[in-house]
Amino acid sequence: MQTIHLDLKGKDVVSDVLCGEGVFEREFPRLVARYPQSFILTDSNVKRLYGDKIAALAQGAPEYVMPAGEENKQPSTLIEILRAMAKAGMHRGGCLFAVGGGVVGDVGGLAAALYMRGISCVQVPTTLLAQVDSSVGGKTAVDLDDVKNVVGAFKQPGTVLADPMFFATLPPREIRCGLGEIVKHGALNARLFDELWENREHLTRPEFLARIVPENIRHKADVVQKDEQETGLRKSLNLGHTTAHALELCDKRLSHGEYVLIGLIFEAEIAKTRVSCDGEYLERLEELALTALGEKPRGLPVAAAAPYARLDKKNKTNDQVVITAPVRQGEYALLSLPYADYERELSDIFASMGF
Ligand code: NAD
Ligand code: GLY
Repeated sequence: MQTIHLDLKGKDVVSDVLCGEGVFEREFPRLVARYPQSFILTDSNVKRLYGDKIAALAQGAPEYVMPAGEENKQPSTLIEILRAMAKAGMHRGGCLFAVGGGVVGDVGGLAAALYMRGISCVQVPTTLLAQVDSSVGGKTAVDLDDVKNVVGAFKQPGTVLADPMFFATLPPREIRCGLGEIVKHGALNARLFDELWENREHLTRPEFLARIVPENIRHKADVVQKDEQETGLRKSLNLGHTTAHALELCDKRLSHGEYVLIGLIFEAEIAKTRVSCDGEYLERLEELALTALGEKPRGLPVAAAAPYARLDKKNKTNDQVVITAPVRQGEYALLSLPYADYERELSDIFASMGF
């Protein structure tokens, strides 16, 4: 087992991320017993796959099962969870355990932040994306109709249990989704990039994923420790995301992580023509992203997607688009380009690359 500490100095907040095979079975009952009251939140898929195991370890703690899927990451679900917590008689000393992917983690984290103005929270991420990204760093949110993550709070979990056992049941698309954020971390961390490049032939092997997850968590924890509220360095974690979010908002065929891989490729191409960068390295990074993506998707709705990039939170004005672009191994740059250029280059680059 590896333990990664996330220490927000000055705030007196420490999260422990415990990673490794067997962590769920060993640590979950210990944590449930530590709190005077525990409340389990999971989703319908995780319940179907792991419900018996969770029940066996949860020592009779009350449970709420939300319907699976991003479309349920809404205020109405949050209210239902809060209602179930109140009905279960939860007090301030209690703890919410969010057992699921990024959706359960984000809604559950927000419920823990709001209930009685804040109770403890333990995250048990069950998808690859949730282990390497969403369960670490304390961002919680629900969507509001079509606007993603617009109602939220920072709520650092006391403990995160990241057990690769859960990957055994993940469909290939969910593995690719997690790889999107892993390759993104590789674009920000030189050592991680070398490791991914050397293992590019077997990125999806379970042993490789189990090994690479703690390194990803370490990278993210390090960034969050330095900039929890995303005033500077944490913006690096947005690499590839301006274009990913724009595509995702008007085309639901692919997963978030797959759009991140596509966004990363496009934003690397933008960097090549605009700033001093290492072209050879960017070629390798793009190859890595294409390998993780598997098949190249055709017919991306680039013309419809471009205007959505105007909504990106990094932009300062409506006519400039800011992207976090990879430039050299382990280095990124925030690039601001006129919207008209972004729109033109989005269609030119994707057409020339055969997307
Ligand atoms: P998800 O939670 O919807 O999970 C994907 C699917 O996999 C769901 O159908 C789920 O039921 C199922 N599932 C979960 N665990 C499984 C398992 N072990 N085996 C089989 N199926 C399983 O999606 P996700 O990709 O985990 O997370 C995406 C969400 O995370 C988005 O809402 C995104 O906004 C959020 N996110 C948050 C942050 C953050 O910092 N808070 C960062 C990145 C993404
Ligand atoms: N997923 C980006 C962040 O947590 O900042």
